[in-house]
Amino acid sequence: MTKITISTLDRMKAKGEKIAVITAYDAGFTRQIEKAGMDVILVGDSLGMVVQGHESTLPVTVSDMVYHTANVTRVSQRALVIADMPFMSHATPEQALNTAGRLMKEGGAHMVKIEGGAPQLETVRHLTARAVPVCGHLGLLPQSIHQLGGYCVQGRGDHAGGAILKDAIGLQQAGAQMLVLECVPAVLAAEITRALDIPVIGIGAGVDTDGQVLVLYDMLGVTIEGVPSFVHDFLAEEHSIQGALLAYVKAVKERTFPASKHTFT
Ligand code: KIV
Repeated sequence: MTKITISTLDRMKAKGEKIAVITAYDAGFTRQIEKAGMDVILVGDSLGMVVQGHESTLPVTVSDMVYHTANVTRVSQRALVIADMPFMSHATPEQALNTAGRLMKEGGAHMVKIEGGAPQLETVRHLTARAVPVCGHLGLLPQSIHQLGGYCVQGRGDHAGGAILKDAIGLQQAGAQMLVLECVPAVLAAEITRALDIPVIGIGAGVDTDGQVLVLYDMLGVTIEGVPSFVHDFLAEEHSIQGALLAYVKAVKERTFPASKHTFT
């Protein structure tokens, strides 16, 4: 079995082949996700909400992330595994290096994800210069929920959109090798995807990014309350978890997900 690496994902972007990404937090679901042929698994700090029952991702600790990342990497075989750097675990470049070291050495992550743009550039340079692969995360930043005042679309209008584009280019220049764009207008996501050489993965960002990511529990309809409009419940039509995961991978690859009803203008 050929393992997915960042070079595989770069080649997929170059060929216009869509990248299927999903979150996972444990071994059981990871086995199912691997069987469905997922390219990338994200151990997201969304686990704070969908697994731990918190109202936001803020309470998630580095030890929580290490524990769940290890649950995933212990059984994953093919997918590239990314682990989130939780809130306040990367306030300085030194702290970020310590957190990333734990996620990679104890958790077995292949890459770490950091929310934020300009304020994170020094940290991204610090990590990537020390062999830590970094995925950026722009648009809606769940760790900044109290500053943002709600889970709403980001980057509407020339000024806000231009700032996200500038941050995206800055992250790539700082050494980030992948980017997640969350809840931004589809036109902006398409422009950023064209402007960057690194793979851009969207969530609520339209169909023109290089790939898609969804929170596992959301796409299985397990999260009943407050499911965002960009989510599709794949289990509702498929009646088995394996069927739902296969349908999601197929829909991403064939560009039938996200549809216009899942997309922001
Ligand atoms: O934590 C998470 O699951 C994420 C995705 C929403 C991209 O960051």
